[in-house]
Amino acid sequence: MCGIIGYIGNDNGVDYVLGGLKNLEYRGYDSSGICIINNSSQTNLIKQVGGIDKLVQKIKITKPNGKLIIGHTRWATHGKPSTQNAHPHFNNDRSIFIVHNGIIENYLEIKSKLTSRGYKFISETDSEVIPNLVDFYYKKVNSLSRAFRMALSDLKGTYAICLVSTIEPDKIFVSRLGSPLVIGKTKDKIFVSSDPSAITNKTKTVSFLNDFDIAEVALKKIKIFNQKGNKVSSAKFETISHNDSQNNLGDWPNYMIKEINQIPEVVELAIKGRLGANHQIKLGGLDDVSTQLEHIDRIVIVGCGTSYYAGLIGEYLIEEFANIPVEVELSSEFKYKNEPISRSTCLIAISQSGETADTIAALNKVKDFGVLKLGIVNSIGSTISRMTDAGVYCHAGNERSVASTKAFIAQVTVLSLLALRLAKTRNKSVDDLMEDLLNLPDKIRKVLDQSEQIQKLVHKYIKYKNFLFIGRKYNYPIALEGALKLKEVSYVHAEGYSAGEMKHGPIALIDKSFPTIVIATKGDLYKKTISNLLEIKSRGGPIILITNFQDQKIKNMVDDIVYVPESGEETAVQIISVALQLFAYYFSLALGKNIDKPRNLAKSVTVE
Ligand code: M6R
Repeated sequence: MCGIIGYIGNDNGVDYVLGGLKNLEYRGYDSSGICIINNSSQTNLIKQVGGIDKLVQKIKITKPNGKLIIGHTRWATHGKPSTQNAHPHFNNDRSIFIVHNGIIENYLEIKSKLTSRGYKFISETDSEVIPNLVDFYYKKVNSLSRAFRMALSDLKGTYAICLVSTIEPDKIFVSRLGSPLVIGKTKDKIFVSSDPSAITNKTKTVSFLNDFDIAEVALKKIKIFNQKGNKVSSAKFETISHNDSQNNLGDWPNYMIKEINQIPEVVELAIKGRLGANHQIKLGGLDDVSTQLEHIDRIVIVGCGTSYYAGLIGEYLIEEFANIPVEVELSSEFKYKNEPISRSTCLIAISQSGETADTIAALNKVKDFGVLKLGIVNSIGSTISRMTDAGVYCHAGNERSVASTKAFIAQVTVLSLLALRLAKTRNKSVDDLMEDLLNLPDKIRKVLDQSEQIQKLVHKYIKYKNFLFIGRKYNYPIALEGALKLKEVSYVHAEGYSAGEMKHGPIALIDKSFPTIVIATKGDLYKKTISNLLEIKSRGGPIILITNFQDQKIKNMVDDIVYVPESGEETAVQIISVALQLFAYYFSLALGKNIDKPRNLAKSVTVE
C-alpha cells in the first residue's frame, strides 16, 4: 500500500517522478506528495489530498524543477488522508525528507523519546519519526550515512524508505524490510521505485533490493550496505522484460473493463508453451524441483482475497486430478496457526502482486521447515517469486484495476495446469480438461460478446442493496469471488455461499428484496443446485441463474438467465467468473463509483 518513487539525474526529474507516481497510484490514492531538492540545496515540498492528477495540477502552478526528488502516493494507515499526514515527511529543521511504505510498530515509543528531547511532530503518522530519528543521530555522529543506519536499527515493523537531504544533495538513501524496492538505471538517471512496472517505460535495467539492504544511491555509484555498515556489494542489475502497453488505457474508459477484455489473450499466454495441441504439460518453472514434487503427500495453499478463492478452486482441481490432499488457508490465519507441517508437505503461495504482506509472512513461517515452497505469482521479480523455491508465473501482464479480474483467471488456469502436471494417471477426464483449456479463450470471447446483455440485466437489478451468490463444488469459490467483486467495486452488500449451506442459515435472509445469483452448471450437481434455487423461489427471492445448460424446464421458474458457452465443470469456473466480473463492473459503472480505485482499498496490501 503506498507507492514510492525516487529520482536522481542530470536533468529535471519532476515529470519522471509524477509519471512514476501515476503508475504506482494503484498502491494507494488518498494523498500524494513530492520533495524536490534543487542545485542550490533549496527544497520544494508539495503535498495534496487526493490522487496524482490533483498533485499534477498543483505542481503546474509553480513549475518546480530539480535533479533529486522523492515522491509518494499514500494509503492511510496512521492518520486520516490530509496534507499534513501525506508524505514526504521531514525533520524539524526541514533538512531531511523521507517517503515510507510499511508500518513502524514502535513509533509511539520513538516519538515519546524524541519529544522528550525537544522534537515536535505535526502529523499523526508513524512515518514522521523516521526523519527526526535520523536527525537525532546525525547530530551525534555527523554522518548522514551512519545516522540513517542507526535510525533503521531502532525501527520495528516493516518499511521501504527513500531519504533525501540538503546535507548531501547528491544522494538518495534507501532501505527495505518487508516492503519492496527496486533501483533502475540509465546512463544518466537513477530511479527508485516500489514496483519495477512504474519505471519500465524509462529503464528495464533494474536491481531488486533484499530485506535489510541499505543503499546509497548516487549518480556515479550505488553502494549497498548491511545494517552494521559493512559494504556488502555493488548493486547487481538485471534486464527485465515488461510490456508497457499494460500501463495505459488506450481507448478503454478504465482498467477494469480493459483487463476483463484482455482475458482471452491472458489465458492463451498462460497456456502457451505449457500445454500443446499434443496434450503434453510442460511447466518449466518446476523442472528444478521435479524430484521433490514426486514425493509430496500434502499441499497447503495460502493466499488472500481473490488469490485465496483461486486457491479453493485449486483444491478441487488438485484433489480431483492428482489425488493429493490439499488444504487452503487464508495467509493471515495460517501465519498465526500452530499447524503441524511435515517435510513432505508443499506450500503453494498464490499472489497477483507477489508483495502481499500476509502471504510473505506465511512463507516466512515455513522458512526453516524444509518444505517445498512454490509460487503462483503474476508480478515478475516480486518478493514472493524470489522467496519461493520454484513456481509458475501467471503471465497476465500488469493488472492496474484494484479489483482483480484477468489475474484471477490466469491463476485458475495455472492451477489447472499444475493439477494436470501432478496427475499420475492419464485418463479421459485429464484429456477432456486439456481440450477444454485449449478452447477456453474462444468461449470467454463469447461471454464478452454478451456484455451488453449483462449491462441491461444490471440496470434491472440496480435498485437492490443486497445480493447472495450461491453454487456447489467449483461454483462455490466462484460464488465467493463473484460476491467479493460486486462489493469491492460497487459497495453493495453481497455474500457468497455454498448452495448446500442455504438451509443452515442464510435462507432466513431471503425475501423479495434480496436477489440470489445461482450458479448451476451442467453435471452431477446441477439438479441439487436447482433444488436450492427452488427453495429460494418459494420464499419470494428474485433469481438470476447463470448456467451453461439449456434446460427448458427452468426457464419460467427464474427471473433472469445468463447462458454461457458449455464446457467441463473445471473450465466453466473461468467462463462464469468473467460473466460475474462484467456484472460487478456494470453495477459499479451504473452507480458512478470509482471503478479502478474503490474507496478504502489499494491494489497491493503490503502491511498486515
Ligand atoms: O496481490 P495478491 O493476489 O496477493 O492480493 C490479494 C488480495 O489483496 C487481492 O486479491 C484482493 O482481494 C483484490 N482486490 C480482489 O479483487
